[in-house]
Amino acid sequence: MTTKPKTGIKVVIVGAGFGGLTAAIECHRQGHDVEIYESFPALKVLGDIISFGSNAGRIFHRWGKTPGEIADRLRAVSIDLREYGFRIHKYDTGEVVFHQKTPPPAEDAPVFNGHRGELHQIVFDYARDELGIPIHLGHFVEEYFEDDNQAGIVVKGKKVYADVVVGSDGVRSKARTLVLGYEDKPKSSGYAVWRAWFSNKDMIQDPRTKQFCENGDTFNGWIGPDVHFLFSTIKNGSDCCWVLTHRDEHDIKESWSFPGKLEEVFKVLEGWDPMCRAIVEKTPSLVDWKLVYRDPLPTWTSTHGRIILLGDAAHPFLPTSAQGATQAMEDGVNLAVCLRKGGKANIPAAVRAHQEIRYERVRAVQKTGETTRDMWHKTDWAKVKEDPTSIGFPRDDWIHTFDAEKNAEETFDEALAKVQSKGAAAATSVPAAAPVVSTEA
Ligand SMILES: Cc1cc2nc3c(=O)[nH]c(=O)nc-3n(C[C@H](O)[C@H](O)[C@H](O)COP(=O)(O)OP(=O)(O)OC[C@H]3O[C@@H](n4cnc5c(N)ncnc54)[C@H](O)[C@@H]3O)c2cc1C
Ligand SMILES: *[C@@H]1O[C@H](CO)[C@@H](O)[C@H](O)[C@H]1NC(C)=O
Repeated sequence: MTTKPKTGIKVVIVGAGFGGLTAAIECHRQGHDVEIYESFPALKVLGDIISFGSNAGRIFHRWGKTPGEIADRLRAVSIDLREYGFRIHKYDTGEVVFHQKTPPPAEDAPVFNGHRGELHQIVFDYARDELGIPIHLGHFVEEYFEDDNQAGIVVKGKKVYADVVVGSDGVRSKARTLVLGYEDKPKSSGYAVWRAWFSNKDMIQDPRTKQFCENGDTFNGWIGPDVHFLFSTIKNGSDCCWVLTHRDEHDIKESWSFPGKLEEVFKVLEGWDPMCRAIVEKTPSLVDWKLVYRDPLPTWTSTHGRIILLGDAAHPFLPTSAQGATQAMEDGVNLAVCLRKGGKANIPAAVRAHQEIRYERVRAVQKTGETTRDMWHKTDWAKVKEDPTSIGFPRDDWIHTFDAEKNAEETFDEALAKVQSKGAAAATSVPAAAPVVSTEA
């Protein structure tokens, strides 16, 4: 991996999820000095299935001593569907209504689906151990501050200063409250997902389900009225994973560890293809994850332009978009390029240009989470009979062929000019808004 000459820009990143880690790796590549503060005291292999589209694969491919080095490590723990593809079933009869073939793999833009914790560990180790990026674990960031000349955080009672602070602290972001000046309360989306990940040991004992584990990886979906159930086997069929999205108006907690009950899942599966129950029966424990909805934030950038929200903190995604982590990564790539092109003397303008480049694309990708869910949940089976491809998982070129780095290089100047003219217009018309972030330094 080639790194650019030093820019002298100091970046502090809060949160070592995929968003924060990618921002750090890309800042390192673009020549900035970067460090991360993360509240977790130690890295744990948490979560279950996570997806990265080829627009993320293009980013991963550039990492490593030679191109593809990190991507190869990710591939080793990711699902391999070159043979099996994706088989979509009608929920009650169980018939396969569409067999969606896996597109031929692109060497420089691979797709990865695997265990979030395992993939995360690979990226984390690369950032810390191979690139030498300082990652301060066990550091809960308590406060953010900024003025015209610098920004920073308060952690363990001490101030840490930087040119720019990146708030990549996830769906329950504290940085978001500070940037917005109010708490952005999540609303119920009307849906929740039960999710589970476990070894194949019981699955392979059962003659009905051993087919999913004996011949490599598999991916099947059952589509029903306002419900969909996705089941995959990964790492040569040795690990099993399912997610079931269903109506749920109750709680609106955003958590990864909320326990779920199998009896409730069985209730939803009444009248379904018995294969679904045969799969779910093998589950040792499951998580009940309430899907919340958030209105798009009016801005991701603080008053002085030195604190920027990134990833889930700025824009959480529904899992049906399969783009949440990927869009967090694109943010990191884009920001690092904008900071280099803007230079140390123009941080706020570069940060605003970053938002200018990202905002509409992110909105458009976010919407696909709703359209895919609604397409599945309101399936017109007569139409599927005529055109089976209509039920396939959409793979939009405008999402997947996108090269975030190239795009940032090409569009930065125009975005900068735009935010500068907006800034000039604002300065002559309305008085500046009250600062929403504590500025004491
Ligand atoms: C434990 C966990 C498990 C997950 N499991 C899945 C999964 O199975 N499937 C899936 O699709 N998505 C999962 N996600 C979400 C997924 O990682 C994100 O949607 C996506 O990768 C975007 O990442 P992000 O970096 O914006 O946010 P996140 O991945 O949420 O990372 C945010 C990070 O910020 C840290 N943080 C928060 N507040 C502070 C603070 N005040 N000071 C310091 N650090 C702070 C958090 O500990 C966390 O590591 C999970 C997230 C977490 C945190
Ligand atoms: C995959 O698993 C099967 C048994 O389920 C085994 O025969 C085969 O050797 C495995 N392949 C690899 C590459 O591990």
